[in-house]
Formats: sequence, structure tokens, C-alpha cells
Amino acid sequence: MKVYLDHGATTPVDKEVVKAMLPYFTKDFGNASSLHQFGQKAKEALENSREIIAKKLNAEPKEIVFTGSGSESDNLAIKGIAYANKDKGNHIITSKIEHPAILETCKALEKEGFGVTYLDVDEEGFISLEELKKSITNKTILVSIMHANNEIGTIEPIEEIGKICKEKKVYFHTDAVQSFTKVPIDVKKMNVDLISLSSHKIHGPKGVGALFIKNGTKIQKIIYGGHHENDKRAGTENIPGIVGFAKAAELANEEYISHMTKLRDALIKELEKIPNSQLNGPRGNKRLCNNANLSFHFIEGESALLRLDMKGIAVSTGSACSSQSLTPSHVLTAIGLKPEIAHGSLRFTLGRENTEKEIDYVLKVLPKVVEELREISPLTKR
Ligand SMILES: Cc1ncc(COP(=O)(O)O)c(C=O)c1O
Repeated sequence: MKVYLDHGATTPVDKEVVKAMLPYFTKDFGNASSLHQFGQKAKEALENSREIIAKKLNAEPKEIVFTGSGSESDNLAIKGIAYANKDKGNHIITSKIEHPAILETCKALEKEGFGVTYLDVDEEGFISLEELKKSITNKTILVSIMHANNEIGTIEPIEEIGKICKEKKVYFHTDAVQSFTKVPIDVKKMNVDLISLSSHKIHGPKGVGALFIKNGTKIQKIIYGGHHENDKRAGTENIPGIVGFAKAAELANEEYISHMTKLRDALIKELEKIPNSQLNGPRGNKRLCNNANLSFHFIEGESALLRLDMKGIAVSTGSACSSQSLTPSHVLTAIGLKPEIAHGSLRFTLGRENTEKEIDYVLKVLPKVVEELREISPLTKR
């Protein structure tokens, strides 16, 4: 049996998505900037896709800029706001549990003279609204707090953060790469100025992202060239990819959310029965519907991952990006886990195609793997 439980890293492309994309590789291959019929056909597909993504966010189509990835969207949001608003101030606020696409961009800006405050989070991964308020100064130009965390599934209180930013007149960006189509997003209700999205986390193709930029936002582009994407991102648009992204967004629905929530809760309930295990991140509707992250004391997550892989089960330790490094995940460290507990953590991220049968199989295999590893572990207190 093969069980893929790493949808936080990437998802299989939906067959319907592939079908929607195919004509744009061959028959309708035009460049959306060309004036002839080939170009106009591509342009039509581009604008139709823009409308679909905008609708999902309750935004205007012209507020959507297609990019090459979620990472690029994050870079454009942070650098774009920083460079365009440096006459107003040089201070940015973010959190310690953001994706590297945010953290590394902020670090790069620090080298250029910007000041960055990295907010602490509590033991479930939530930022403190009081801390946020206190951190905003008259030099602050941007607050960037992720919607849902990719490792522990914490859903941050975006509406409240948006309210604070609006009152203090600072731009608010949220990285919604993991939450898009899993948690409702309404840009008007949430008072957000910028939102990053990525196609390959929602059963769309890889290498496509989008950034919502609210009308009137002062932003500088970071990729120069032609006047594509409302003059905010140069580069010939990836029409098949963008069409696939929009189709994937269209296919997502409430039914999938309840299916994944049900599987998630069954998985957490049973895995918590393993002695010396603990859930990382919050419970219930404050947690992403497809995320379960647990630490199993006295074992190495990496060893468990490899043994599970041999049994056909794909999970991850930490996030896909940090799982190849030996330092414990910055997210698990930020919620207060000791390094040895953080190292014994596994992330299970469900997808809509997972079944109860697959979860039963995981629940049969995993306790044995943990037990075997504990038998050979020098850390085990027996
Ligand atoms: C929260 C978050 N932001 C950004 C990204 C980067 O997205 P992409 O892979 O499209 O560059 C990821 C991917 O893992 C993510 O989980």
C-alpha cells in the first residue's frame, strides 16, 4: 500500500486540472501580450483565471498578480513594500514561525538597513495581538503574519491583525499558501493588503503563484522587463500553469474540508494514545484541516520517516524545506520544544484523496515503528 501524507509539501495535480491545461501547451499556445488571435486566446484564458482566483478572495481581478511560486509572491510582497515605502519608515514586523520565503527575505532586508521585529508565539503557535500592537512604531511600514503555519497548522487571527494594521495605517501581508481553499479568505472582511498563494498546494501545477495586492497599495516590482501583470511582475505569463491554478481553485470545496478534518481528527486521536507522544499546535478549528504534527519522545523523526517510507507511507519531519537540515525546526523551537523533542516530530498532511483505510494502515504501522525505534534508542528511559 502507498499512502501519501505529505500534502503540505506538494499535492498531485488533479486530472481535471491537467485536462484544462493541455490545450494551452499546443493548440492555444499564444503569448498573452501578442495582438493576433493566438495571443488573444491566451489573454482571454489569463483574464478568466484571474477572475476565478479574485472571486475566491472576494477581490477584484486587477488586484491579482500571477507569479512563479508562493516564494516569489512572498518576496514581491516584502521587498516590494519595503522598497516603495522606505521614505515613510524602515521597520517590518513578522513572526518567528514564518516560512523561509518570508524569514530569509526579511534577513536580506536587514542587511540593507531595514529593521525587523520577529514576534514570539505561544506554545500553540499563536502570536500575541498585544505584542503586535506594542511593536508597531511610527517607522513601521509592513506587518507580515502567515495565515496558517505549514508545520503545525496554527491558523492565526488574521481578521484581528488586519484591524490593528488598519488602525495603525501599516500595510498587512499574509502568506496564505497553506490555507488557500482550506480556510475561507475574504480580503474585505480581513483587512489585508497583500496575500500570497501557491498553486501546487491545492492540486494545481508547480511553479505558479499569485499575489493579491489591494488597489492603491504602494509597491515596487522586483522583476523588471516588460509591462506584464499590471506592470507589477515582468515575464511572459505561464498560461497553462495559470489556467491549471484557477481550475484547481475552482475544484476545491467544503466537502473536501470536512473529509480531511475527519481523517485528521481520527489520526490525532489514535496517535496520541502512543505513550510519550504529544500533539504540536492547536486543536479543532484553530488548526488547518489537513495537518497533524506529533512528537514521539525518545525517537528520531528522521529514522521514523525512513522506516515509514519503506512501508509505503510518506510523511515529513518539520517542513519540506527544513527537513534536510540537522538543526531542529525553527517553528517547533519557537513553540518551546526542547531540541530532542523537536527531533522526534513527524508531520502528517492529508489530502482529499486519502481514505479511512489508508489512515487505518498508518495507525497499524506507526506504533510499531515507534516501538522498534525506542527499543534501540539510547534516549529511552525504560
Ligand atoms: C507557508 C508557505 N509559504 C510559502 C511556501 C512556498 O511556496 P512555493 O513552494 O510555491 O514557493 C510554502 C511551501 O512550502 C509554504 O508552506
